Amino acid sequence: MKFTLATVFALVAAANAGLVSRTAVTYSFCSTGATDPLKISSVDLSPYPAVPGNSITLSAVGTSTATVNSGASAVVTVSTGGFTLWSATYNVCTDLTINATCPIAPGTYSLSKTITVPSILPAGTYTMQVSAKNADGSELTCITAPLNVA
Ligand SMILES: *[C@@H]1O[C@H](CO)[C@@H](O)[C@H](O)[C@H]1NC(C)=O
Repeated sequence: MKFTLATVFALVAAANAGLVSRTAVTYSFCSTGATDPLKISSVDLSPYPAVPGNSITLSAVGTSTATVNSGASAVVTVSTGGFTLWSATYNVCTDLTINATCPIAPGTYSLSKTITVPSILPAGTYTMQVSAKNADGSELTCITAPLNVA
């Protein structure tokens, strides 16, 4: 076999395809987030970096001091330099996988959501913001994290 650069790339791609990396990402609270009733304690993205057109699963663990009621919503925004490239709104009680059902009493819960990475995103590092509001419109949480797109 002639060992060309293309072969090397193909081998690296094949090796990467076999790996499903679950990566803990470093996140920060939005300006309002530190005093919110839902405190996120970990965020994982899998696979990471994200691949345009493929699915990515966001998993988080959080502790809430508020009861989360039916009608709570979560907005995921992907932006760069202040420009929003993609945004989606989810119903917390019906669109997210949580180890509880609404109304969710105060406590610690794990939540996850699998979404399709927008295929329009060129490779790069973006800012992902996840903000959630309770049914009455009060903020539950707001975090930002870097989103690496391969
Ligand atoms: C839900 O998951 C969290 C985080 O893993 C855990 O601390 C909690 O005990 C779980 N609660 C229930 C009701 O399973």
